[in-house]
Amino acid sequence: MTRITDRDLTHGLATRSIHAGQQPDPLAGAVTFPIFQTSTYVQEGIGRNKGYEYARTSNPTRQALERNVAALEGGTHGFAFASGMAAVDAVLKLLSAGDHVVCGENVYGGVHRLMDKILSRMGLAFTFVDTRDPAAVAAAVTPATKMLYAETPTNPMMRLADLSALGLIAKAHRLLFVVDNTFATPVFQRPFEYGADIIVHSTTKYLNGHSDMVGGMLVTKDDELAERLGYIQNAAGAVPGPFDCWLAVRGTKTLPLRMRQHDANGRRIAAWLEQDRRVQAVFYPGLPSHPQHELAQRQMSGFGGMMSIETGSLERAARMVERVRLFALAESLGGVESLIGHPATMTHAAVPQAMRAALGLTDGLVRLSVGIEDVDDLIADLDQALGA
Ligand SMILES: Cc1ncc(COP(=O)(O)O)c(C=O)c1O
Repeated sequence: MTRITDRDLTHGLATRSIHAGQQPDPLAGAVTFPIFQTSTYVQEGIGRNKGYEYARTSNPTRQALERNVAALEGGTHGFAFASGMAAVDAVLKLLSAGDHVVCGENVYGGVHRLMDKILSRMGLAFTFVDTRDPAAVAAAVTPATKMLYAETPTNPMMRLADLSALGLIAKAHRLLFVVDNTFATPVFQRPFEYGADIIVHSTTKYLNGHSDMVGGMLVTKDDELAERLGYIQNAAGAVPGPFDCWLAVRGTKTLPLRMRQHDANGRRIAAWLEQDRRVQAVFYPGLPSHPQHELAQRQMSGFGGMMSIETGSLERAARMVERVRLFALAESLGGVESLIGHPATMTHAAVPQAMRAALGLTDGLVRLSVGIEDVDDLIADLDQALGA
C-alpha cells in the first residue's frame, strides 16, 4: 500500500503520469526510478530501519507504481498485485462468508470463474445481472448484499454500465462500489467521480501498454478501506516483483499519449468495419449506432481501441483470425501492437455456454485490440483478412 502525497494530484494527467511517485533517486539522482531488486533490507537495530523491512510488505519500486496509478485515478492509496485477478481476489477478501455481491453478468471470464467456481464454495453468494439496466441492479440487492461490482465497457460485448446510476444505488444500499477501469483507463473514464469506492486494473493491459508483464492494481480514496486492503495485500501476499512494477510504471508515463492514438485508430477502424458488408455488426461505444452511445459520450472522454465484430459464423471468425498478418492472434489487449482474438474459445471459454449465448457472445464474434500502428496499414490487414 502506498499513499500519494498532496503534490501528486496538483498537475494534469500527462504530467502526473510522468512525475507522480517518480522523484529522482536519492543515491545518484537517477532520472528513472531504480529497480530495487531485493527481498529484504538491512536494519540498524531492533525496530530501527529506513521504513522497509521485507519486500512482500513494501518495496520502493512498487511504491513508485502504486503512487503513480493512485494519482492517475485521482485516489489516495494504490496497491499493486501480481495480476489483475490477484487484485480482484484481494477486493473480494474484504467480504465474509454469508455476504452477497451483485456483479455484472458480462465481466471478464476470469472474474466470473473466480466468483462462481472458487469464492462461492467459501460462503460468498453472487448474482450476475445486466449492468446496462440500473433497475435490474437495484432489484438484485438483498439484505446480505455488501458489494456492487461492475466493468464498463465490458469485455468483449462493449456494453456500458451507467456509473452515475450504479453509484447512487450503491450509496442508497451502503454497498462497496467496485469498478474495473481496465478498458477505459483513467484517461477516458473517472469512476471516483461517480461514487466508486475501489478501482480495479489489470495493469497487464493499457497501463503497461507494451505486453511485457502481468500485473494488477487497486486504488481507493478511503483511509479505512485502504487499511483493510493493505492488510490483505500483505497477509495474502500476491504482490508483483520489482521488475514488473518498473515495467508497469515505465508504461504509465506514456499512457495519455498512447490512449489518444488507440482512440483515433479505434474510431477510424470501427467506422470502416461498420460500412463493410462482410461484417454483420460492430460493437464500439464510439459509434453513433451503439445503443448506449449517448451514455458513452456522457461518462467517457474517449472510446479507446477495444471493439468486437460479428462475422456470422465460427468458420468466418476462424478464417479472419488466421489470415491477419499485422494483427496478432493472441489473448490479452491494450498493448501498442494490434491483437485479434476469438472470445468464445479464448478469453471467455470459462463462461458457461448458456451465459455466452444470452450475452450475444457467439462463435462468430471476433475481438480487436487496436494498437497504435499506422491506421491505414491496420485497415488493409483487416480488409485482406475478411476475404472475398
Ligand atoms: C477487464 C479485465 N479485468 C481483469 C482482468 C484480469 O487481469 P490479469 O489477466 O492481469 O489477471 C482482465 C484480463 O483480461 C480484464 O480484461
